[in-house]
Amino acid sequence: MCVSSKIKIGNVLLNSRLVLAPMAGITNMAFRLIAKEFGAALVHTEMISAKGLCYKQKRTYEYLAHSKDEKPISMQIFGAEPEIMSDAAQILVEHGADIVDINMGCPVKKVVKTGAGAALLKDLKKAEEIIKAVKKVCSVPITIKIRAGWAPEKPVFLELMKIAEENGVAAVTIHARYATQGYSVKADWNIIKKAKENTNIILIGNGDVFDFEDAKRMRESTGCDIVMIARGAIGNPWIFKDKVPTLLERKRIMLKHLAAIKSLMRGKKSLGYMKGVLIWYSKNLPYSSIFRENVGRAKDEKELFSLLDSYFSMLREKIYGNKSG
Ligand SMILES: Cc1cc2nc3c(=O)[nH]c(=O)nc-3n(C[C@H](O)[C@H](O)[C@H](O)COP(=O)(O)O)c2cc1C
Repeated sequence: MCVSSKIKIGNVLLNSRLVLAPMAGITNMAFRLIAKEFGAALVHTEMISAKGLCYKQKRTYEYLAHSKDEKPISMQIFGAEPEIMSDAAQILVEHGADIVDINMGCPVKKVVKTGAGAALLKDLKKAEEIIKAVKKVCSVPITIKIRAGWAPEKPVFLELMKIAEENGVAAVTIHARYATQGYSVKADWNIIKKAKENTNIILIGNGDVFDFEDAKRMRESTGCDIVMIARGAIGNPWIFKDKVPTLLERKRIMLKHLAAIKSLMRGKKSLGYMKGVLIWYSKNLPYSSIFRENVGRAKDEKELFSLLDSYFSMLREKIYGNKSG
């Protein structure tokens, strides 16, 4: 079972079976464009507050910014009121969403206490109302992203997937853990397998895919149609291509990511974010702990770029014994 064949979600054609997950604070336009460059067949915005959209909050609208080069793009909303969710979904479509994804898996307190995200796994009636309301107004395919249930004592994924199927949802992503587990246990891919065996809807498997081999293994062992990658893509867009980057290539992408963040964020807070980006990409590289410490202390962008240059120059000398490679 390969990961490179095409597949459709509703009328949206994906060029492969590997997609980038929604990640709050991470999958902004800069990140998504790079994932796309390396072959992510579909990218997701981070989760967007349906209320924020309906109340026209400027900051919330910023999450809708995207480039035509990212398409197809799925925009994800979270919320608990069917009417607000359907209004928000229409705003997403008006702003260019190719797919509208509904968050039914986020376990973060701030979200759950409003009845949104993973709280919907405890209230399938509400989940169904939301699906129906969004489906009614959406001219693009809708998808849902769930965990297996709120707690391991009560799996609900089969029931929820059946609801999704009956109400015209085009695909379901399952993050193969329960909300109460956070990330404390290994993702249980048997959940994905069971979901595939018992439903006919397009299934996107998610959880603990950290390299290309994992992605192939997930598809082979569970039968899922598509594999979604989250943490494994942070600082590692090459995961979508089964490619190990050269030092030059890694540095090129780091510089590209920094430049994109700079133009996306403009202003003060970009320095902290840029430091984070350098730390992502240097994880697991030789001598990176000293580099990361220096990055953490850097006072301005100029210093960051100079640290990057000297780190890569040092790596090249250590690895190749000269300045090429
Ligand atoms: C920093 C971070 C932010 C996340 N934000 C979202 C989000 O906005 N919406 C969502 O559905 N899932 C979110 N997730 C969950 C991921 O999409 C994914 O389901 C989870 O990390 C499991 O996949 P992985 O093992 O490949 O990381 C987030 C995960 C991380 C690590």
